[in-house]
Amino acid sequence: MTNKLIYFIGNWKMFGDFSSIKIINKLNKFYSKFKKIHYRNKIILCVPYTLIHFFKEKNKSKHIYFGAQNCHQHQTNGPFTGSISASMIKKVGAQYVILGHSENRSSGDTNHKIRDKIKSALNEKLRIIFCIGETFKERKEKKTISVLRKQIKGSIDKKYNLNKIIIAYEPVWSIGTGNVPQKNELRKIFIFIKREIKKTFKIKSFPIVIYGGSVNAKNISMFSSISEIDGFLIGGASQSSKKFIDIIKNYYK
Ligand code: PGA
Repeated sequence: MTNKLIYFIGNWKMFGDFSSIKIINKLNKFYSKFKKIHYRNKIILCVPYTLIHFFKEKNKSKHIYFGAQNCHQHQTNGPFTGSISASMIKKVGAQYVILGHSENRSSGDTNHKIRDKIKSALNEKLRIIFCIGETFKERKEKKTISVLRKQIKGSIDKKYNLNKIIIAYEPVWSIGTGNVPQKNELRKIFIFIKREIKKTFKIKSFPIVIYGGSVNAKNISMFSSISEIDGFLIGGASQSSKKFIDIIKNYYK
């Protein structure tokens, strides 16, 4: 089994309230023991804006990191009703932010807008979980590689610090559907993403690239056999402490 750092990132989406602290408590209990055995992993929970501060205050253990799921491209205050800036999420205690999720792309996030959001978040010293991925139609038309290339080049500026950006490959057709890519296909895509970014941005080592889309306790063993995968962005299954814990446990089986 690998000794490299593996990320288990929960994307709670529009889920949770103050009582959800019990999920965090259960995760902490499990993880404080587990970490001693498998210390090379990191748990990050990207929760609704409304819960970041509360969880940071209530969470006594240092094992779990918190993040937001989006931010506005304008870094600080401004006339943007209903929006939240990178500076605001940083102030309530977030260390990470998901940007470019397909659910936000489908409601108006373009590659260009995502690029501005990444810039604002980096300026606030947040780490980014930058989502890319093709739709079902694009996959059928064999456009996966060109779509990924366009998303990468369209949203990452040469000046950005790639060490602060985790790439999350999330095929849109896999999110919340129970369908996942075949092992060989997935491996090829991971190799492509890593090489493409290393070459384009002239960085010394490969970037961190994680997988997201219908990850569960059953299919995690297939993913864990792909050494190019550095972790997971887990949606539905991260809303249950048991499901999330089972994924982590089974990854190391
Ligand atoms: P899922 O979601 O695990 O429920 O498919 C993943 C995501 O949207 O990040």
